[in-house]
Amino acid sequence: MLELLDIRKRFGALVALDGVNVRFSPGRVHGLLGENGAGKSTLMNVAYGMLKPDGGQIRMNGTPVVLRSPREAIAKGIGMVHQHFMLAGAMSVLDNVLLGDWRATQFLNRRRAADELAALAERLGWTLDPLVPVERLSVGQQQRVEILKALWRDARLLILDEPTAVLTPPEVEQLFGAVERLRDEGRSVVFISHKLGEVKRICDDLTVLRRGRVVWEGAAEDVSPAELANHMIGRDVETVTRATFSRRGHATPIPDDTLEQARLRLDNVTAANLHDVSFQISPGEILGIAGVDGNGQQELAAVVVGLRPPTRGRVLWHGSDVTAMSLEQRRILGFAHIPNDRKREALVPTMSVTENVMLKEYRDPPMSRFGVISWPKAAAVAKHVVDQFDVRAQSLDVAVATLSGGNQQKVVLAREFAIQPRVIVAMNPVRGLDVAATNFVYEQLLARRAAGAAILLISSELDELLALCDRIGVLYAGRLTMTNFPATGREAIGRLMAGIDLPAESR
Ligand SMILES: Nc1ncnc2c1ncn2[C@@H]1O[C@H](COP(=O)(O)OP(=O)(O)O)[C@@H](O)[C@H]1O
Ligand SMILES: [Mg+2]
Repeated sequence: MLELLDIRKRFGALVALDGVNVRFSPGRVHGLLGENGAGKSTLMNVAYGMLKPDGGQIRMNGTPVVLRSPREAIAKGIGMVHQHFMLAGAMSVLDNVLLGDWRATQFLNRRRAADELAALAERLGWTLDPLVPVERLSVGQQQRVEILKALWRDARLLILDEPTAVLTPPEVEQLFGAVERLRDEGRSVVFISHKLGEVKRICDDLTVLRRGRVVWEGAAEDVSPAELANHMIGRDVETVTRATFSRRGHATPIPDDTLEQARLRLDNVTAANLHDVSFQISPGEILGIAGVDGNGQQELAAVVVGLRPPTRGRVLWHGSDVTAMSLEQRRILGFAHIPNDRKREALVPTMSVTENVMLKEYRDPPMSRFGVISWPKAAAVAKHVVDQFDVRAQSLDVAVATLSGGNQQKVVLAREFAIQPRVIVAMNPVRGLDVAATNFVYEQLLARRAAGAAILLISSELDELLALCDRIGVLYAGRLTMTNFPATGREAIGRLMAGIDLPAESR
């Protein structure tokens, strides 16, 4: 149905697509697999007319075509649901679907349009009220609106860019049901993901991209998840297991009576999106917080590090109330923060490596005296921490934006761990990193745990938490449920993540 032939695309010096060939057939689900930055979104943005390729050819049913805009792609039967949705929140589902549709004028009868839309949803196994404003829908439901919008325009080929990243496990099942129906209707679905198990389950054909090149293609049934992982990463994958890491270099136990004092405690903390959250973390302990993104994780991290005050409740450290302390004050006490989005929250991408390492220290000696920054001293300190963390950069003067994701994260760790932190709040610390960088971050966290830091690890990757944490709680809709992990297994934690309440004894 659609062929992308020898597609090339550069962004400045970066070669995002280096001669990619791929063919999508009717009645098949085609998985596009690859690590972050492999070029998946870029390739499909080319197919959707959003990006102009630097070279190559696109053919539909054997005939060369030029797609100058999404409008032209849609007219030719191509639909795409992006990683970040593009809906108008205050408008109803129906109006979002009709928005910009050339046939909308035919539907002067809104009632009839609403009925047709509800029927379309039902055909996919979904119930959806067309008249409800989009902003009142969950993320999973909004995704359905995006899919309906594409099908309303009669997409014969539907591109889904990492659709499961924002879904709970039951929502994933419902999406898969719909994808199967679309396939049975003879449509072609492109399913972008980096989750191997999912791709194996739902796809017929697979293409693996690495650094803008196709490194493997074939039938999904002919390849194991481990083989796919090797193709994605390009070398043998060392899977993180609890056995690899656990107990390695655990801190010496602290006597019970001093422990009470030494803990980080949250008492009944309530904030936007957080309801009555309480927990304690001892020195030398990693408390994991599992959950699908958007269930209060950002707010929890913000309250603990001092970015946002809670509306109710207290944060205690070593027995003293630090609730009113700012981020800077808590940093002096030894609070370190590895935020969710390193490019936006942790680094200033246009500033140099040295400046980013300095970002939080510039006011204090030896970096500055009487308010004057000593750049030679700063550069020496930056060089020392950066060497320790093996940051690979052309020089420390280049903009942090030019570093790979793994090296950017090392800059964040170098800065945050330079203060010998006693409390660490880390959120999705290895997102988008390759295997080597991932292992490095894990090693560093475990080294800090061995050095007696109290660590709050917030992650949407359950495997990571199972491998690294001493205890695990689950955040759902802003509420924290503690589990009896390690006695509690993956399945029960998965159910709590989906909002299914379990009796206390099976948590
Ligand atoms: N608009 C852009 N400008 C500059 N670089 C970009 C742009 N879009 C993507 N890139 C870069 O191209 C590469 C491929 O990105 P992308 O296609 O988004 O990867 P994927 O979807 O597989 O994670 C990455 O290195 C990314 O940083
Ligand atoms: Mg992408």
